[in-house]
Amino acid sequence: MKLTRRNLIKSAVGIAAGASLPASILAQAPLNMITIPSSGQQVPHIGIGCRNYRGSLNSAEMPVFRDTFATFHQGGGKVVDTSPNYGNSEEIIGHIMRDQGIRDDLWIATKVDREDRESGIERMENSFALLGGESFELMQVHNLRGTETQLETMKAWKQQGRFRYIGITTSNDRQYSAMEAVMNAHDLDFIQVDYSLGNRNANDRLLPLALDRGIGVLVNLPFGRGRLFNAVGDRPLPDWAADIDASSWAQVFLKYVMSHPSGAIPIPGTTKPHHAEDNLNAARGRLPDATLRAEMERFIDPLL
Ligand SMILES: NC(=O)c1ccc[n+]([C@@H]2O[C@H](COP(=O)([O-])OP(=O)(O)OC[C@H]3O[C@@H](n4cnc5c(N)ncnc54)[C@H](OP(=O)(O)O)[C@@H]3O)[C@@H](O)[C@H]2O)c1
Repeated sequence: MKLTRRNLIKSAVGIAAGASLPASILAQAPLNMITIPSSGQQVPHIGIGCRNYRGSLNSAEMPVFRDTFATFHQGGGKVVDTSPNYGNSEEIIGHIMRDQGIRDDLWIATKVDREDRESGIERMENSFALLGGESFELMQVHNLRGTETQLETMKAWKQQGRFRYIGITTSNDRQYSAMEAVMNAHDLDFIQVDYSLGNRNANDRLLPLALDRGIGVLVNLPFGRGRLFNAVGDRPLPDWAADIDASSWAQVFLKYVMSHPSGAIPIPGTTKPHHAEDNLNAARGRLPDATLRAEMERFIDPLL
């Protein structure tokens, strides 16, 4: 069952109209959920990106990675994005999930980044070996590498139940036309694209197309890799932040992404427990409406 454009917009408006709550109560509230268009499955409206989970399993950073994951999981987080392309991120995530016994609670997305069929298969089998489990929720073609070839294998494996969803990713405007062509040519469950308050180009064509075709959206670089934090510096939050229950700049930036009518799910990259907690809180409380989204854009543009 595909959700219609009208239903998705209705659900986004419903969240935006939610009641105002004190921050202490909000922090304990369940995460806002979002519906995956191609299945109707509900997932929390925020994920975590694991591009920076790298290094030896004995490194001094491992306990911090573990705590970050525990914070994310205990706070109700589910959507985890990684790739064989991120150093040994899959190995680290797989290790942490086994250690904490949380593999089955999480919604795992990874990627394939090879041109030819055989090396794509080898890469995807290796992801299964490292991340564990019989299936992943989402397999994505990383940066459109070998798209047609990899999608053929991915569609077959989806049929076999090895992936619940399939998709494609980019974080580069120069790939947007190619991305659009693939979205029109194939039945995809997801795209993953860079979109943020400071980089709104995906809204020209890709996000409206995703909405029209019932394709779910994961959003990478929701902070522009930190560029947005640099832009606001140590400025206090504007008064309107309280109107969307945002108590940090990270929550302001994430709520902007989440309020796109496509139901976009941001996957902020973090390796710090307090950042994971902060980011989860973006999926609580209200979202900006169209008027406030425009005000947020007017606020940030002169600072970039
Ligand atoms: N083409 C692709 O498929 C593609 C490309 C790029 C990224 N991605 C995916 O998207 C994810 C996100 O992208 P990204 O990690 O490159 O960039 P990002 O999410 O825009 O920014 C990550 C940066 O923000 C910091 N941060 C996170 N939460 C914060 C908070 N609450 N307050 C202050 N700073 C905070 C992180 O630092 P700490 O680690 O110290 O928290 C890190 O330096 C990646 O991890 C990856 O999974 C996919």
